[in-house]
Amino acid sequence: GITRRYKFEVRMQNVTRLCQTKSIVTINGQFPGPRIIAREGDSLEIKVVNHVKYNVTIHWHGIRQLRSGWADGPAYVTQCPIQTGQSYVYKYTIKGQRGTLFWHAHISWLRATLYGPIVILPKRGVPYPFPHPLKEVPIVFGEWWKADTEAVINQAMKTGSAPNLSDAFTINGLPGPLYNCSVKDTFKLKVKPGKTYLLRLVNAALNNELFFSIANHTLTVVEADAIYTKPFKANTILITPGQTTNVLLRAKKHHPNASFLMAARPYATGPATFDNTTTAAILEYVHHDPSQKPKTSKLPLIKPKLPFFNDTSFAAKFTSKLRSLANSKFPANVPKKIDRHFFFTVGLGLLPCSKNQNCSGPNNTMVGAAINNISFVQPKTALLQAHFLRQSNGVYTSNFPTKPPTRFNYTGTPPTNIMLTKGTRVMSLPYNTKVELVLQDTSIIGAESHPLHLHGFNFFVVGQGFGNFESKKDPTKFNLVDPIERNTVGVPSGGWVAVRFRADNPGVWFMHCHLEVHTSWGLKMAWIVQDGKKKNQNLPPPPADLPKC
Ligand code: C2O
Repeated sequence: GITRRYKFEVRMQNVTRLCQTKSIVTINGQFPGPRIIAREGDSLEIKVVNHVKYNVTIHWHGIRQLRSGWADGPAYVTQCPIQTGQSYVYKYTIKGQRGTLFWHAHISWLRATLYGPIVILPKRGVPYPFPHPLKEVPIVFGEWWKADTEAVINQAMKTGSAPNLSDAFTINGLPGPLYNCSVKDTFKLKVKPGKTYLLRLVNAALNNELFFSIANHTLTVVEADAIYTKPFKANTILITPGQTTNVLLRAKKHHPNASFLMAARPYATGPATFDNTTTAAILEYVHHDPSQKPKTSKLPLIKPKLPFFNDTSFAAKFTSKLRSLANSKFPANVPKKIDRHFFFTVGLGLLPCSKNQNCSGPNNTMVGAAINNISFVQPKTALLQAHFLRQSNGVYTSNFPTKPPTRFNYTGTPPTNIMLTKGTRVMSLPYNTKVELVLQDTSIIGAESHPLHLHGFNFFVVGQGFGNFESKKDPTKFNLVDPIERNTVGVPSGGWVAVRFRADNPGVWFMHCHLEVHTSWGLKMAWIVQDGKKKNQNLPPPPADLPKC
């Protein structure tokens, strides 16, 4: 592979959406941010220079970062933030991955405007395991607030109330024609009759899983989270924040004398406080034969049907269709035997309020979120540094619970004690541990599904179900043959998923709900993977320009 260099200048830029202009944090003045293109096996060197008043870090979401954890990016986990006037060069090599991923800021809520696609092409001369498309087009979903998003989250954390909802969803930064003032702010995809297109879908929205559909067109799913899948056809795609999905779009053979909306709106299982509006782009057919040109200049615009906002059965059906290719070229190396089994509950609860907060919950509490009832507290220095220097004292403790404090039983009604505990705890694993992790949604406050994202690894989703995970019965039905391999999985509302991975990447790896509001509330933890015995199983020392806290 070759080395590809990018320069990311973090700058403020005025951007107008929904008839209102605000100053946002951007990379190189672009919104959405620049696209990174590389081939499998290439190395990347991305110099990030911070010219804004905020502290910044960038995360390369889904990149495995094999022995390059210093470049992963989550603030106070693998690095101290890049402060105003400072810079940091993220260096890593892309190994064994090809497909679509994305990069985003990983501090506070800056990822609301700091995000962009990562396109990883196969090695030169290596074909796709599906028909070669005429064109490849990133379709990046986002969320737009008229207000300043840092103010939105800071205000919410101060009062303990839910942050204000976004004002629009966006496709490639544009809300589209179904919002006020936004007809001009519509992404258009022009296609030629009979041709095949690869749409690289990325959900970079902060707080919403999305349904996506193109009117009168069927899509073929071929890849998820930069792993090829067994192709399958779908009229609607479900994509959670943190997930990426490649789909093939076959344009109709003849010009259809119509244009089509490509639309996305939330899949929301939580309390009915969400923005159920629809973002849309337009799929337009072009005429290569002028005699085919339709007589009327104004073509009808056809809208797709999207599932109802809380259609959990659609969600379960869609996710069960996702299977890895699992052939000789792209084997699914699922750990067959496991070394450690963990049971983690994920969900919301209540946290005691501190003195400087004016909290809205009962008995001086505020809403929090947790894994095994531990609501993660961000440390003052980066965990990875503390781990590497063996200076964990006062930074973190290695006693993350392997199961919740009291036996979890999902009944659909909340238990009496829903208080959470704060802590900066990690789970430490010897190198190469084969891990099985069951993630059980608690649905204690509002039934809600949680897109759990693991840094540094892909995991295999070996099982999922509704209700309680039954440790005797459910594992007998696990798929160890062709489970989907990915970095973000939706823990179903009132249900569970089981994943397996091999801890073959030494470092400190963040795991969290990719709904940003839940991350802010503490639904996050970190794994430490110890060095192995051999030299090539160690985490190398930090780069000289690693930012200091
Ligand atoms: Cu896409 Cu830790 O995040």
